[in-house]
Amino acid sequence: MAPSNAQLASPGVEQRVDALLKQMTLEEKIGQLVQYNDQGSSAPTAANGDQALAANPETQTRVDAMALARQGRLGSMLNVIGAQKTRAFQDAALHSRLHIPILFGADVIHGYRTIYPVPLGLAASWDTALVQQLSHMAATEATTAGVKWFYSPMVDISRDARWGRSTEGAGEDPYLGSAMARAYVRGYQGTDLSRPDSVAASVKHFAAYGAAEAGREYNTTDMSDIRLRQVYLPPYKAAVEAGAATMMSSFNALNGVPATANPYLMDEILRKEWGFDGFVVSDYTAVMELTHHGIALDAATATKKALEAGVEVDMMSHFYDTQIPKLLAEHRLSMATVDEAVRRVLRVKFALGLFEHPYASGTEVTHALPANRPLVRRAAEESFVLLRNAPDQGRPVLPLDPGVKSVALIGPLADAANEMQGAWGGATQVPDVVTLRQALERRMQQHGGRVLFAHGTDILTESTAGFDTAVQAARQADVVVMALGESSEMSGEAGSRVHLDLPGNQQQLLEQVAATGKPVVLLVFSGRPLVLDWAAKHVPAIMAVWFPGTEAGHALADVLFGDVAPSGKLPMSFPRAVGQEPLYYDQFPTGRPAGDADLSRPPSGGDTRFVSRYIDVPNDALFPFGHGLSYTSFAYSDVRVSRSTLPLAEANRPDARDLVTVTATLTNTGKREATEVAQLYVRNLGASVEQPVRSLKGFQRVTLKPGQSRQVRFELGFAELSFYDVHSRQVVEPTRYTVWVGGSSQAPGQAQFDITP
Ligand code: BGC
Repeated sequence: MAPSNAQLASPGVEQRVDALLKQMTLEEKIGQLVQYNDQGSSAPTAANGDQALAANPETQTRVDAMALARQGRLGSMLNVIGAQKTRAFQDAALHSRLHIPILFGADVIHGYRTIYPVPLGLAASWDTALVQQLSHMAATEATTAGVKWFYSPMVDISRDARWGRSTEGAGEDPYLGSAMARAYVRGYQGTDLSRPDSVAASVKHFAAYGAAEAGREYNTTDMSDIRLRQVYLPPYKAAVEAGAATMMSSFNALNGVPATANPYLMDEILRKEWGFDGFVVSDYTAVMELTHHGIALDAATATKKALEAGVEVDMMSHFYDTQIPKLLAEHRLSMATVDEAVRRVLRVKFALGLFEHPYASGTEVTHALPANRPLVRRAAEESFVLLRNAPDQGRPVLPLDPGVKSVALIGPLADAANEMQGAWGGATQVPDVVTLRQALERRMQQHGGRVLFAHGTDILTESTAGFDTAVQAARQADVVVMALGESSEMSGEAGSRVHLDLPGNQQQLLEQVAATGKPVVLLVFSGRPLVLDWAAKHVPAIMAVWFPGTEAGHALADVLFGDVAPSGKLPMSFPRAVGQEPLYYDQFPTGRPAGDADLSRPPSGGDTRFVSRYIDVPNDALFPFGHGLSYTSFAYSDVRVSRSTLPLAEANRPDARDLVTVTATLTNTGKREATEVAQLYVRNLGASVEQPVRSLKGFQRVTLKPGQSRQVRFELGFAELSFYDVHSRQVVEPTRYTVWVGGSSQAPGQAQFDITP
């Protein structure tokens, strides 16, 4: 099997690892397997024993990280921010007996100092080249502070908008998720890990964390092997194939076995099937949490289970350092297991060039860089998804007329710099952020117009004290822009919600402002899909803008005024009602499909009742996966396949590529240049295992001038045509494929071909 990363597999690196390993004491070896932050966490005392260890080590325990570093007993650290701090710890480590450098990791998820949109928003760009560029940019900033390892990308598929961490990933689809996963890894690691501006990626959270039952954070996941391999694993696999140097285990249990002690995931799949040579770090205190999961009665057993499963580094549990010596002494753990873990950690350190360049490189970046602002501004623009743009007095509300005299800007997110940074604001500072209010006021002043700003309400409050001023502002303006939605901390880790509507009384405010009869543009800031059913009927223009980052205001103004036409497409379905969750487009068929029944009405008889449906809300999404409008219109025609039959023997080979070419003609039928994301979907009928009603198998961004046409082409090979059978084998069978090419998961234009026995 080809190595997952040639640098990690290099004989030169292995020789250096061998040589070093031979010199290490047990304490030094264990040191490579533990990770602390600079806050310290506490050692066990005779009185608290294992029980106290099972509590949050950050609050109940203290470890002197600096002392450990000096003794060569601290392999890696997390979220130590700033070159001065990393230097102090690195100095200490390099003065230790063997001079092994510390690896500094950080949660750089969507930017370090110059912040770009949250990953869900970035996924809405469907622009992998952009994601790669941004990831590289983040690496160049963070390495100036000594950070050489990012706890990113998060590639957990999320199909349940209740789950707050949906904001950190690429949404519901494995194909899009895999493309994004590759782009992040390539951007972070570059082609050479040892370059001063490369960082190691930590792909997280392995695995299937995003399938938490009922969308409740940290909850269990339970699924068939087919679903695991077909839907949840592909992005992790894509990241490993792109060379990811490390992975992070997840908090959840998968089919009853916590991921952090799951040999099927770490050993069978990751190491053996995928040939992964890097190391796995536990998530924060996840080794300790094995006791909470109830699969370990004590710290020693938790340690043994995690380490033997293939989790090499213990993040913050303080278990590996306290328990490994005891386990070895009692012959419950082999030295070979410890050595293998240390070997994997050292391999990454050598490949990263950490021994040669242990310190921060270049001038430390301490604020959002002017030179990086244009890129994050473009990223924000590409992330916006225009969900609806209905006419008001004969023309669509967006883009705004550049000569408009007065705009009422209303809502708690219009001028909230800190909220623009999203769930992981990196190390940025709030003053670096441009808000919509700032950008809009500047722009309106330039052409002699004015902004009537009203805060309206807070994100989460019962007070309606600001409503009247907001309604007054709307009445006096030509057009109203409302900036409503979630606070950044309502999504992200531990941000699960059961209500997906606009929080607090923002819906009430929206209704009162809309009642003025003025045209309203609703900008929805959120880390997840929200339920926007009322707005979809009563508000002419709605745009999902996620959390756009440092250049939020400029990017929003650019798109509102039409300097830039929106091009984003939804990476996750927006439901009509929370009860539809988990909701995703590539569902499996049922034996009772609803067919042509009008699901917007309650059932009226047998044909409309005994079908797979709800009696109160249609099945489909309010805004489906792949949907997104622009300021022009696009048409698809001539969807064709290059052949109508394909012999099975030709198709059923893992290395078979370009077996069938799908083409379509895309035309810009509107009045301005814009970019469309053309999407290819397939359905496979007649297989031994039922297949989704549609699955994404290709996409590309295409920019066209008004009236211009272009042929879009997609190649289908084994990777696109195969699926997992009941024996967990990836196969192609003699089946019928329907393909669709269009601008969303509801694209109508189709063609067919058969795989013949
Ligand atoms: C999160 C990870 C994160 C880690 C370190 C955990 O709570 O689940 O995503 O990388 O903390 O901050």
